Amino acid sequence: MRADVERMLGESPAFLKILEQVSLVAPLEKPVLIVGERGTGKELIASRLHFLSNCWEGQYVKMNCAAIAESIMESELFGHDAGAFTGATKTHRGRFERAHGGTLFLDELATTSMLVQEKLLRVIEYGEFERVGGSKTLTCDVRLVAATNQDLPELAKQGKFRFDLLDRLAFDVITLPPLREREEDILLLAEHFAVNMAKELGRELFAGFSPNVQQALVSYTWPGNIRELKNVVERCVYRTDPEEPVSQILFDPFSSPYRPTESAPATNHADADQAQPKGNTLTQTDFPINLKDHIKDREIDLIEQAMTRNKHNQRKAADDLGLTYHQFRGYLKKYNLVGDPAGAE
Ligand SMILES: Nc1ncnc2c1ncn2[C@@H]1O[C@H](COP(=O)(O)OP(=O)(O)O)[C@@H](O)[C@H]1O
Ligand SMILES: [Mg+2]
Repeated sequence: MRADVERMLGESPAFLKILEQVSLVAPLEKPVLIVGERGTGKELIASRLHFLSNCWEGQYVKMNCAAIAESIMESELFGHDAGAFTGATKTHRGRFERAHGGTLFLDELATTSMLVQEKLLRVIEYGEFERVGGSKTLTCDVRLVAATNQDLPELAKQGKFRFDLLDRLAFDVITLPPLREREEDILLLAEHFAVNMAKELGRELFAGFSPNVQQALVSYTWPGNIRELKNVVERCVYRTDPEEPVSQILFDPFSSPYRPTESAPATNHADADQAQPKGNTLTQTDFPINLKDHIKDREIDLIEQAMTRNKHNQRKAADDLGLTYHQFRGYLKKYNLVGDPAGAE
């Protein structure tokens, strides 16, 4: 069980500071709020808080508030008595009852209704609640840990979250750094996920990342944080020959020239009857690239477009590209595109 505590990797100062804070607050039995962008490890921190607490032998109960319909949220949390509503044939113990003597982790807390928030406040303050449809007041001893990727003080200002609940929950707030602020950890985590993926694929070893892939991994901004890193790494490992180091990386699995778009690309041409040549809009680039090859491809593409557009009249094509005829011929030679200088005269 306590092996769960070991699983978090990282050596960056920002991450080590968090681990220190977790170790300090874990034994206190007070409510803790974990804040962080998606994929930063909020769930792992919550379980770490439980397993480092004095109630680590008690139950660790999780509930994702965003995944539970509003109508059953109350009965999920506090339970219901038989006959509380149509279909409630048996008594149902809620998460608070089940977590008695342990920890209850409420993930994505910002999505709870005002009514549920009011009831949560009461359990936190007095340890008391009633099952839905029940008249008996029950008591429980539960350590509450909550997580959100939203700005709760801001939601409270907008009247969408109770200030008093926020005050009670946030005895201490652990704010997880996004991966882009943990540069030192990126390759460490990437290597870890890659080795695990190679094992999963039944491979004997993982041949590593090429230097340019390492560079790309470190400089990417990781909006989806560690979850995204894990996916990106696993994807490139399975796509790479087992003997070869990973030298290609695909950040966005949706990127494809055939990706359907919602709206047609904006046109910057007045002559609407001229069909838009493909590749005229700047699209997201899948780094790493070879810049020189990339520029070469782009130049050839634009030269060919200008030629097609001008029915192979090289002077007109040169004009379209803002080049003199001699400069234009220079490009044709450079890229071995020299043909009959049709329309040159
Ligand atoms: N420090 C870490 N070391 C190893 N894996 C991690 C670490 N932090 C997060 N992960 C992994 O990243 C993914 C996302 O973590 P999770 O806790 O679900 O994030 P969140 O709840 O903030 O969206 C999970 O697969 C988790 O195991
Ligand atoms: Mg989560």
